[in-house]
Amino acid sequence: MANNVLKGKKGIIFGALDENSIAWKTALKVKEEGGTFTLTNAPIAMRLGTINQLAKACDAEVIPADATSEADLTNLFSKSMEVLGGKLDFVLHSIGMSPNIRKGKEYGDMNYDWYLKTIDISALSFHKVLQTSEKLDAMNEWGSVVALSYIAAQRAYPDYTDMAQAKAMLESIARSYGQRYGSLKKVRVNTISQSPTKTTAGTGISGFDMFFDFAQMMSPLGNASAEDCANYCVAMFSDYTRMVTMQNLMHDGGFSASGITTELVERLSK
Ligand SMILES: NC(=O)c1ccc[n+]([C@@H]2O[C@H](COP(=O)([O-])OP(=O)(O)OC[C@H]3O[C@@H](n4cnc5c(N)ncnc54)[C@H](O)[C@@H]3O)[C@@H](O)[C@H]2O)c1
Repeated sequence: MANNVLKGKKGIIFGALDENSIAWKTALKVKEEGGTFTLTNAPIAMRLGTINQLAKACDAEVIPADATSEADLTNLFSKSMEVLGGKLDFVLHSIGMSPNIRKGKEYGDMNYDWYLKTIDISALSFHKVLQTSEKLDAMNEWGSVVALSYIAAQRAYPDYTDMAQAKAMLESIARSYGQRYGSLKKVRVNTISQSPTKTTAGTGISGFDMFFDFAQMMSPLGNASAEDCANYCVAMFSDYTRMVTMQNLMHDGGFSASGITTELVERLSK
C-alpha cells in the first residue's frame, strides 16, 4: 500500500535490534514510503543484533550511538546530516531497557543504580536526542520526532516496575520539549503508546504472555502489531499529521478506553 508519503524526507531510526523490533518494521515501511535515513543502536546491541541486514535492505548507513551519551548523539546527528545531504524531517526513538526488569527484581527490592540506568536509557535519552538536535539545528520545519511508550505510564502493572516511571517521564518530555521545539522551529514531538508487542524488550517482562492475551481480549480491535505501529509512525512522520504535537497517542486497538469487553466477560464466566 505504498503511497510515497515520505518522499524526499530524511531521518534517523533508533532501536532496530532484530526483525521483531518495532524500529525494524518501521525502517522497512519508511523505506517503502520513499524516506531515507540512517540506522543507529548502542554499540553492544550492534554486536548482538542483525542491524547490518536491515541496513542492506534499506540502503541505509549504520552509525553506532549509545543514546545516553551526548558525544555519541552529536556525532550521530552530524554524520546523519552529512550522509543524507541536509537537515532531518523525522526521528524515531525506539529505545527501552531496565536492568531491574532484566535481573528479575521486584518493585520492593529495586537496585537504585539500575533504576537510574533505566531512567537514563529509556527516558532521559529522549531529552538528550531532542536537545542535541536543537543545538545542531538538525531538524527541518514541520519535522516530526516520535518516541514509543506504554500504558504503564498511566496505570499500574506489577511487573513493569521502574519502566513505568521511565515511560511517564518520556511522555512528559514529549510535552515539554514539544512546546519548546514547536514554537522555536515548528518541530513536532509526540509519543505513541503501543499495545504489548512480541519483541525482545516486550517478552523480557515477566508475565508478558498473560498481559498480551488480556490486552487482546480487552481491545475491540485486538492488539496493535509491530507492523501496525510502523504504519502509525509513517503517518506521524508524514505531512498528513502536521498539526499534531505534544501528544501521547494511544495505539492499542481500543484497550485504553475499554472498561471490560464481552469477550473478557465470557472468558471469566467459564
Ligand atoms: N514490546 C512491547 O510490548 C512494547 C509496548 C509498548 C512500547 N514499547 C516500546 O517500544 C520501544 C522499542 O522496543 P521493542 O519492543 O521494539 O523492543 P527491542 O528490544 O527490539 O528494542 C529496544 C531497543 O532499545 C535499544 N537500546 C537499549 N539500550 C540502548 C542505549 N543505551 N542506546 C541506544 N539504544 C539502546 C536496544 O538495543 C533495542 O534495539 C521501546 O521504547 C519499548 O519500551 C514496547
